[in-house]
Amino acid sequence: MFVHQSQLRHLLTPDKYCSDQQHRIEAERLFLPAWHFVGTLADLARHGDFLTLDLADRPVLVRNIHGQIHAFLNVCAHRHCLLTSKPQGSDPDFRCQYHGWEYTSEGRTARIPDAPAFRPFDRENAQLHKYRVALCGEAVFVSLAEEGPSLADYLGPNYELWATSFAPPFRQAVKWSNDFPCNWKIPVEISLESYHIPCIHPETFGDFPDEEDCEHELNEKYTTFRTPDGEDWLRSLGYLGVRLLGSTPTHQYVHHHTHPNLLFSSMDMYRLALSTVPTSPTTCRQMCWLYTLRGAKPGILPALISRLMRRFVAKEAKQILLEDMSIFADVQRGMKSSVRRGVLGTREERVYVFQKFVADACSHGESEPREDAGQGGSHASDTAINGRSAAGNGSSVDACAETCSDACANGGSLRNS
Ligand code: FES
Ligand SMILES: [Fe+2]
Repeated sequence: MFVHQSQLRHLLTPDKYCSDQQHRIEAERLFLPAWHFVGTLADLARHGDFLTLDLADRPVLVRNIHGQIHAFLNVCAHRHCLLTSKPQGSDPDFRCQYHGWEYTSEGRTARIPDAPAFRPFDRENAQLHKYRVALCGEAVFVSLAEEGPSLADYLGPNYELWATSFAPPFRQAVKWSNDFPCNWKIPVEISLESYHIPCIHPETFGDFPDEEDCEHELNEKYTTFRTPDGEDWLRSLGYLGVRLLGSTPTHQYVHHHTHPNLLFSSMDMYRLALSTVPTSPTTCRQMCWLYTLRGAKPGILPALISRLMRRFVAKEAKQILLEDMSIFADVQRGMKSSVRRGVLGTREERVYVFQKFVADACSHGESEPREDAGQGGSHASDTAINGRSAAGNGSSVDACAETCSDACANGGSLRNS
């Protein structure tokens, strides 16, 4: 059963998916205070390993410095050049690409070419801006805010899941980064509902699951979907593989959305993390990390099973993502011209909770009145937040609907990184 029993109000009007003002407000109120998943220790294993990304219109550099992970605004203190423009790499020297200023782990200058030319030295200005970093297991998170909730507070009851998912017995199978020609909320919203399955995944998954097969947990900070997995021969083979790799199958599919933009899904064979960040009012970038079960058992057979599992899961995940991304540009075009607010059904209640989070965070202090639940009749009230509904049995259809999101700006293929 779903938590809500009647239609829900589409809280965000189409302009909220297009406007410059909304983009700026979301950067400050949603993305600045949040913790952002930026990678794992596998991506930053050695001294000098680094990666870069943009968060809330800010270039960010994350770097392993003698075994500790540090994050900085990727802007040099000398004359404002990006310290590096490479998406990732390794360099034991923490040095700006323009004139070669070098920095310490605290962002202070370590070496300046022709240093006497800068006397007397302006220590106050000659340093990098640092950001907060926190680890959850081997998952690396960055916060742009100087103060705010801890990572444990941010992840809430999902903290343990994050702590154990991106580390042995799972290992990184592949990661992707894709630019989509749409507002960031569109890829997020498609991952929160199974309603699109018959149209977008007719071959891959078929029909959407029965209501009684769905369990939703709704909270103002996150939503969760759970269902038992299906029982076709392919799944049975997969679970045999899980056992042969030394794990005990739960036969459960789980999908979490931590507001605003952090998605996580899991089955016994894999863990998948997706982070979607706006790059403009009408474009976004989605980063995906897929980890598959490696198991703890040594030997040729476990190695072969984990390899086959990795290949199969990666192929299936990419196919689902490609199907989803096929619709994003058209949703964005429709948003631009829509003259109606939109409608949400009970199956889309996780979308409603997400929209409520965005609307509440962004409407404070704005002239537009806050929208609430319910469009006529027995409306879905806010009291349903924090509630949950449960049901039995499951289908692999859900594993699709709630897992897949994403699209590609050029409409092309998924890009490995
Ligand atoms: S801008 Fe970085 S060293 Fe000059
Ligand atoms: Fe989908």
